Amino acid sequence: CGIVGYIGNKQAQDIVIGGLRKLEYRGYDSAGVAVVNENGLDYSKAQGRLAVLESRLESKPLTGSMGIGHTRWATHGKPSDENSHPHTDEKAAFAVVHNGIIENFLPLKEELLAKGYKFTSETDTEVIAHLLADMYDGDIVSTARRAVQRMRGAYALGIMTEHEPDKLVAIRLASPLVVGVGQGESFIGSDIPAILEHTRDVYILNEGEMAVLTRDGVELMNAETGEKIERELFHVEWDLVQAEKGGYDSFMLKEMHEQPQAVRDTMGARIDEENKRVILPELKMSDAELATYDRIYIVACGTSMHAGLVGKDVIEKWTRVPVEVAVASEFRYRDPIYTDKTLMIVISQSGETADTLAALREAKKSNVKVLAITNVVGSSVAREADEVIFTWAGPEVAVASTKAYTSQVVALYLFSLYLAQVKGTMAAAEVAEVVEHLSEIPGKIASMLNNDDQIRRFAEGTKEVSSLFFIGRSLDYAVSLEGSLKLKEISYIHSEAYPAGELKHGTLALIEDNVPVVALATQPDIYEKTVSNIVEVKARGAHVLGFATEGNHDLAKSVDEVIYMPATLPMLTPILTVIPLQLLAYYASVARGLDVDKPRNLAKSVTVE
Ligand code: G6P
Repeated sequence: CGIVGYIGNKQAQDIVIGGLRKLEYRGYDSAGVAVVNENGLDYSKAQGRLAVLESRLESKPLTGSMGIGHTRWATHGKPSDENSHPHTDEKAAFAVVHNGIIENFLPLKEELLAKGYKFTSETDTEVIAHLLADMYDGDIVSTARRAVQRMRGAYALGIMTEHEPDKLVAIRLASPLVVGVGQGESFIGSDIPAILEHTRDVYILNEGEMAVLTRDGVELMNAETGEKIERELFHVEWDLVQAEKGGYDSFMLKEMHEQPQAVRDTMGARIDEENKRVILPELKMSDAELATYDRIYIVACGTSMHAGLVGKDVIEKWTRVPVEVAVASEFRYRDPIYTDKTLMIVISQSGETADTLAALREAKKSNVKVLAITNVVGSSVAREADEVIFTWAGPEVAVASTKAYTSQVVALYLFSLYLAQVKGTMAAAEVAEVVEHLSEIPGKIASMLNNDDQIRRFAEGTKEVSSLFFIGRSLDYAVSLEGSLKLKEISYIHSEAYPAGELKHGTLALIEDNVPVVALATQPDIYEKTVSNIVEVKARGAHVLGFATEGNHDLAKSVDEVIYMPATLPMLTPILTVIPLQLLAYYASVARGLDVDKPRNLAKSVTVE
C-alpha cells in the first residue's frame, strides 16, 4: 500500500493525490484522501483505481491545507469504499492511514465495541481511529504514543485530527516511511518518489520512531519514550523522470530496455578493468573472514528467489561452497542448521518484503552473518543486514520485475567471482575470462531487446492458449522458472517450468497437440540430454520454440522454431536467456489487452506476511 501526507499552505488534496499517483503501483484496489480545514475533517474514498477517487473529487473537492491519503492493497477486508483508507472515528474527528497489520486488532476491537463504538469497516485500521478518539487527552502526539503502545504488529501510520489543525503525526514500526521537509511545508510518504516532486530533503524513519510535522518543520522522537531524536537530513539525488515511463507504453517495457544500463551500473566500479578481477569495496568483513564460510543460504521471494537459483549454480561451480536456496516465507519458520561458517544472502529488490526481512532477522538472532543484495538504499533490508551489495537498477515500478532480476544476477556473479578469488578456487586467468565476457553482456542484452520480432510473433500466437510449458536443465531450468513466473504474472496464462528430464514422471501427460513448449537448450554439457526431452514433447504434438546459442545448427532439426542467443560463457547465458522470456510475457499480456504494469491481485512490494 502507499501513504502520502501533507501539511503546509497549499491545497493538501492536490499534493496527496499527486503523491498517490506515484505510489499507485504499491497497491491499487482502492484509494482515499482526508483533509482538515476550518470546518473540521473531511474525506473521500473509493474502491478501484485512483482515477475513480479523482473523478469523485472533481465533482466534490476537499479543501484544506493538511491532509493524508492512501492507496490500498487489501489485507483485512475485501476491497470496498468502506474498507478504504483513511479511516475515521465515529465523529470523523480523527483520520488514520496505515500500511501493515495490527496483529491484536480483534481484542482491541472487542474492547472498543464493548464501550459502544460502532465500526463501519472490516479493517484493522479502523480500530486505530476509534482508539485515538477514545484515548484523546487534548494532545495528539501523546495520545498517538499511548495508542501505539497498545498495538502489536508491523505498521506505518499517518494520523491527524481536526482538534489540532497544525499537526500531522507519522509513526513507523516495521513498514517503511519517509518524512520530507520543505519551505513552510512538510510531507509524509511511504516511498521517496511520492514526495520527490516537492522536496529532496528527507528523514527516513527507523523502527519505533515518530515524526511530528508542522508548517514550521519536523520533529523526530522515539515513539515509546518520547525522547527527541536529532538526525541529519538525507538529500535524495534521484531524478523523478527516472521513475516515469520515458516514452514507452508501459513501465515494464521501459524497465526491460533499461537492462543494459542497469547491468552496466551494477558492474560499475566493481570490476577492476586493468587486472581483470572483481573488487567489492563495500564489504566490511575481511577477505579472511569471507573465506571461512563453507555453506550459504540464499533467501528471497518471487523473482529475487529465482535470481538466487541462478546464483546457487554459479557459486557452487566457481567456489565449491554448497548453497541452498529457500523461499523466505518457508525459511523463516524453519529450524535452519547454522554453524559459525554459515553465510546468509538475502535478495530483495525493494528491501521491504516482509517475509525476507523476517528471515533476515531470524538469522541475525542466531548470530548468522547476513549479506543483502538489494536495489533500495535506505530500505529496511539494507539497513539491517551486516553487509550490502546494492544493485544499481534504479527505481523499478512495474510489478513484474525485470531489470532488478538481471541486476541481481549480475551482483551474484560478482559476489561469486570475488568469493572464488578469496578462496582461490579459480585461477586468475579464469576470472579474467569471465570478467571479459561480463563486460560484453550489456551490449548483448541490448541486441536481444532490439531484435524482438520473432518472440513477439510467438507471443501473439498464444492469445487463445490456455497452458504453456517451459523446459530446460540446470541453469536453463532456473531461468525457465523465471520465464514461467513472468508469464503467469502478467498474461494470466497458466504455465509451468519443468526440469526437462523430469517431464516424463508426470507432466508429460499434459502435452498434447499444439501445446506450446519453450525449450531452453543453451547449456553445452547437457545439450543432448535436453534435446532428447524436446523430442519427447514433439512426439506428443507440442509446438516447440527452442532457445539455442548462436552457431548451433542442430536444434532447428528437433523444434518448430529457434531463437538464437548471442554466444557467451555457459554460466553467463541466464542473463541473456531471460530477455526473450520477459518479452514473451510482455507481448502475451499486450496481445490479451491486459494492464502490463498492474496485474490483478499482485503488488510490487509485499510488506505484509
Ligand atoms: C512481489 C513482487 C515480485 C517480487 C517479490 C519479491 O511479490 O510482485 O515481483 O519478486 O515481491 O520482492 P523483493 O522486493 O523482495 O525483491
